[in-house]
Amino acid sequence: MFGRSRPTFDTKMARTRLACLLTLLSTHCYLGVLAVVLKTNNESPWTNEFDKVELSCLIESITTSNPRIEWKKITRDGPSYVYFDKRISGDLEDRAMIREHASLLITNATRSDTAKYRCEVTAANDQKSFDEIVINLVVRVKPVVPKCHVPKSVPFGKSAELSCVEEEGFPKSQYQWFKDNEEIPDDPKTSLKFSNSSYTLNADTGTLKFITVRKEDAGDYFCRAKNDAGSAECSAQQLEVYDINIVGIILGVLVVVIVLLCITAGICCAYKQGYFSSRKQAGNNYKVPAKGDGVDYVRTEDEGDFRHKSSFVI
Ligand SMILES: *[C@@H]1O[C@H](CO)[C@@H](O)[C@H](O)[C@H]1NC(C)=O
Ligand SMILES: *[C@@H]1O[C@H](CO)[C@@H](O)[C@H](O)[C@H]1NC(C)=O
Repeated sequence: MFGRSRPTFDTKMARTRLACLLTLLSTHCYLGVLAVVLKTNNESPWTNEFDKVELSCLIESITTSNPRIEWKKITRDGPSYVYFDKRISGDLEDRAMIREHASLLITNATRSDTAKYRCEVTAANDQKSFDEIVINLVVRVKPVVPKCHVPKSVPFGKSAELSCVEEEGFPKSQYQWFKDNEEIPDDPKTSLKFSNSSYTLNADTGTLKFITVRKEDAGDYFCRAKNDAGSAECSAQQLEVYDINIVGIILGVLVVVIVLLCITAGICCAYKQGYFSSRKQAGNNYKVPAKGDGVDYVRTEDEGDFRHKSSFVI
């Protein structure tokens, strides 16, 4: 009984093993020989504007000798052809070429090239006949000269805001401010020189804000916009801090002048109301009545009637 059953068991084992082996083999075949498989050296390449960049699309395995290669650019408006029917088309027409395997070389990148690109390879003779890979390209743009605003003069103790804006740079510019050619630290407390200053500095928006301006804050200020592609600066502009006491003095003088004017006006009114003329009339009632002397004098002069007036006085 035992002698018979053992071979049967052995045969079963052997069959299972063979099946396993075949399965393994076919899996291997499927992956290694009958499928198109893509890979890339760099899924998210970047370059500076006007430089070249390669979108790497390598064929790791294929059996089809003449596969169909296509590239599409994917933007918000949807996909559009970049390489189709063995030709570069669209916006990249004179600026790109196909390199080894299926890679796409852009020879003079522009900012509008920033997008996702899809490399698609169709291999008709392979069991798995299609593969694709998406490359995310970023074209960095150098900042241009930023627009800077520095208030010319600020009263001591008041607030002041300096602004700096640059909108071409990509990725978005970060900002630095300089005072008398020295970089202003993000936090005044970190520097001995600026520790008494009351500013806040926002590197993302480019705003430098003084809560209360000190005499020591006066100086030449300029701003630098920078990103990974480069940097640009505006020219220095002077910030003056004037003493509030001078303003006080000027205001005081103005008040005195206004008071004096009021007094003069009051005296004039008094003349007009006849406060003085009544006394004069009492002494000179043989002269022209009902006209104040002072007022009359001014008027006659204004009207070019001076001679009449002079004779009158004599
Ligand atoms: C790249 O393109 C820009 C404008 O699109 C052009 O001014 C520049 O000369 C080009 N550079 C090269 C190397 O072709
Ligand atoms: C900051 O203020 C303190 C106290 O008023 C003073 O002793 C110090 O010298 C000031 N520092 C600077 C850099 O002006």
